[in-house]
Amino acid sequence: MVSRKLILALTLLCFPLFLFIKCSKLKTEQPTAPQTEAQAHPAGWLDTLSDNFHGSYLRNHDWNLVACQKCHGEDYAGGSAEKSCLNSGCHPNTPESCTTCHGGVDNNTGAPPKDIGRHTERTFKGVGAHSQHVSSSQFNRAFDCDQCHKKPQKFNDKGHIDSELPAEIVWGELSKTDGLSPTWDGTTCSNVYCHGASLTDGTNSNPNWTQTTSLSCNSCHGLPPETGAHEKHVADLHLDCNICHDGYAKNSSVNEQLHINGKKDVQLAAAVGGTYADGKCSQVICHGNSGSPQWTAEGDFSCISCHGGLDNQTGAPPYDLSGNTATTNIGVGAHSAHVMEGDLRVGMDCSECHVKPHEIDDPDHVGPDLLPAEITWGDLAKNEDATPNWDRTTASCTNVYCHGEFGFGNQNNNPIWTKVDSSQAACGTCHGLPPDDPHPAVSQCYLCHPNVVDSDNNIIGKDKHINGQTDF
Ligand code: HEC
Ligand code: HEC
Ligand code: HEC
Ligand code: HEC
Ligand code: HEC
Ligand code: HEC
Ligand code: HEC
Ligand code: HEC
Ligand code: HEC
Repeated sequence: MVSRKLILALTLLCFPLFLFIKCSKLKTEQPTAPQTEAQAHPAGWLDTLSDNFHGSYLRNHDWNLVACQKCHGEDYAGGSAEKSCLNSGCHPNTPESCTTCHGGVDNNTGAPPKDIGRHTERTFKGVGAHSQHVSSSQFNRAFDCDQCHKKPQKFNDKGHIDSELPAEIVWGELSKTDGLSPTWDGTTCSNVYCHGASLTDGTNSNPNWTQTTSLSCNSCHGLPPETGAHEKHVADLHLDCNICHDGYAKNSSVNEQLHINGKKDVQLAAAVGGTYADGKCSQVICHGNSGSPQWTAEGDFSCISCHGGLDNQTGAPPYDLSGNTATTNIGVGAHSAHVMEGDLRVGMDCSECHVKPHEIDDPDHVGPDLLPAEITWGDLAKNEDATPNWDRTTASCTNVYCHGEFGFGNQNNNPIWTKVDSSQAACGTCHGLPPDDPHPAVSQCYLCHPNVVDSDNNIIGKDKHINGQTDF
């Protein structure tokens, strides 16, 4: 250390003398071209390709800017040399700026390229994957130097340029998350949290610093990882990551704020509602009324665990997926009046209005768009070429066969789904009693339709009324 300092001091002392000798030598070698002004620096001092380039000179002399300050001023604004380093357009932010000796090519963070040896290709260790880390990308927000190095505040901070290359890797907190001890062997990083060392199913958790093959979404962890109920949700239900990890899109983009931040973040999409905490979802639409399913537990979900189960065991609401039970809620509405046997008819299957899943992971069941549930109409509603329609804003159905969209029916009958007071199930609402001309104008229905009604107009053939055909 002492001898190093001594050499430095000597160099400093001799520097002006050295320049002087150099200049006089220059002069004597060119006697026929006398110069009016003494040149302070050798030829090539400004030529980046020359061995005499002042940057190279500095590199070979321990980056000793103090020596330069002697003539160019402490503030580099000219000094006794009357030659400013600042306003020449060369070092507008002083030569001590973080992009003078390294960096400055891809960005202004100071991260290479260029490296200390002025290389710009990624295959040089000094350059490597700096730009991918210090700028935001498809995978990450910008990381600061201190995730991998001790970052100096000033160029002459201790431990910065007073040591020899290679630059020292001093791991930051993020890379050590989950109690990991990351290592750098001069080529690859291993055991680094950021690259998935503590996650599962990544294909490239020990990345090569200079290799140009780019990463993909499954480099650091599976897409999704085979943890918890991922497979169930992503492979079986075809849900995208963003249902539970808001702001992410499978294969393509991440939530910059949350990705690689040292925490496994679950941020539910607005459509899902509810919350995730302590490994459990609570009050999420997807699981409706089923309480708080645990992410890592085997679920046992029957058709009434998430919706339905109150009035009957068919799965039809109530409860709806928000836990509502009142028929004035659109999710509840007139379900019970349809799926349970009543005065008019036997119970109706879900498939008359929805695609009915056989298993909970059937493709048309729980989809990414969640509520509202889709009305798809079955054959009965479309009987006699009816073109039924569900208008959600008025919560009413129009053109439905069942409610009068047929030859003798009351074709303007548009029942309201959330008005459940028997008024829309009264005789005469869907068709006349009897229907209009050309139907026989006889009101004792049972005379001609004895298998359907009795003499008091009670429906006795509940499998024959509203079944798509005229029964007698
Ligand atoms: C002994 C005084 C002295 C010292 C020490 C000195 N310079 Fe200079 N420098 C000058 C003078 C005088 C000029 C202007 C004349 C010239 O171009 O030769 C100059 C010019 C320059 C120029 C050219 C500027 C231009 O726009 O033409 C650069 C670059 C430069 N110096 C860099 C340095 C660096 C880097 C150091 C430290 C390693 C340094 N100088 C140390 C006196 C000095
Ligand atoms: C005068 C030239 C010079 C300037 C100015 C400079 N650096 Fe450096 N920097 C170096 C050299 C040389 C190294 C390599 C040192 C080594 O191998 O330890 C280096 C290395 C680094 C490293 C790698 C870690 C290390 O210390 O080895 C970081 C980070 C860094 N510099 C950041 C900065 C920042 C931030 C600034 C601005 C405040 C800056 N540098 C300004 C020359 C410079
Ligand atoms: C993801 C980790 C990482 C980050 C973040 C990072 N570096 Fe580096 N840095 C490295 C590695 C790896 C090397 C090569 C070390 C070696 O040669 O053994 C290196 C080398 C360097 C070198 C020496 C270049 C040479 O010529 O050898 C400098 C200077 C440097 N880094 C500056 C920075 C600065 C400035 C930042 C922040 C703006 C930064 N680094 C951010 C990993 C990183
Ligand atoms: C460089 C490694 C790496 C790559 C590449 C990567 N991830 Fe990640 N990812 C992680 C790490 C580490 C976590 C652990 C949680 C954390 O710290 O944010 C994570 C977590 C996640 C999470 C859970 C939410 C969270 O923030 O915790 C999702 C979703 C995710 N990544 C999706 C993606 C997608 C989509 C891509 C491709 C666009 C991708 N990842 C590429 C490293 C990576
Ligand atoms: C149904 C909700 C859900 C979906 C969909 C989902 N995840 Fe997750 N994810 C979670 C939960 C819950 C955790 C565990 C968080 C914890 O540790 O508390 C998690 C954790 C993670 C983690 C952290 C590491 C781990 O294994 O715990 C990664 C990485 C991740 N998910 C990636 C993805 C990717 C990529 C997708 C899409 C391909 C995806 N996830 C889809 C709920 C989901
Ligand atoms: C894990 C909770 C869950 C279980 C268990 C469940 N469902 Fe669902 N079900 C939902 C959700 C969430 C919706 C709303 C989905 C949408 O509209 O995309 C829904 C909607 C429906 C719909 C309306 C049509 C549709 O797809 O939107 C029918 C019909 C249905 N479920 C029948 C069933 C049957 C039959 C079973 C048993 C095989 C069952 N459900 C089990 C959560 C569940
Ligand atoms: C007569 C038509 C009809 C029948 C039959 C029917 N549904 Fe529905 N269902 C609807 C309507 C209308 C909605 C509300 C759609 C909306 O919100 O836009 C709905 C919504 C739902 C919802 C979502 C509830 C919520 O929270 O929003 C579920 C779950 C559901 N139905 C399940 C069933 C099941 C299970 C069956 C069979 C056992 C069934 N439905 C039979 C018409 C029907
Ligand atoms: C005198 C015999 C007779 C009596 C009484 C009778 N109907 Fe009919 N009804 C018929 C015949 C015949 C048809 C078939 C007409 C056709 O298909 O053209 C029919 C068909 C119908 C249809 C089916 C229309 C369609 O397009 O699908 C309805 C609804 C209906 N009757 C209701 C009633 C009601 C309600 C009463 C009692 C108020 C009643 N009928 C009394 C003979 C009768
Ligand atoms: C929700 C609408 C609706 C209501 C309310 C309704 N009907 Fe009907 N009715 C129909 C439809 C649709 C048909 C057409 C034939 C079929 O599909 O069964 C029909 C047909 C009939 C028929 C002809 C026989 C048959 O079923 O083919 C009789 C009789 C009848 N209804 C009597 C009644 C009586 C009595 C009441 C009151 C207790 C009543 N209807 C209430 C929809 C309704």
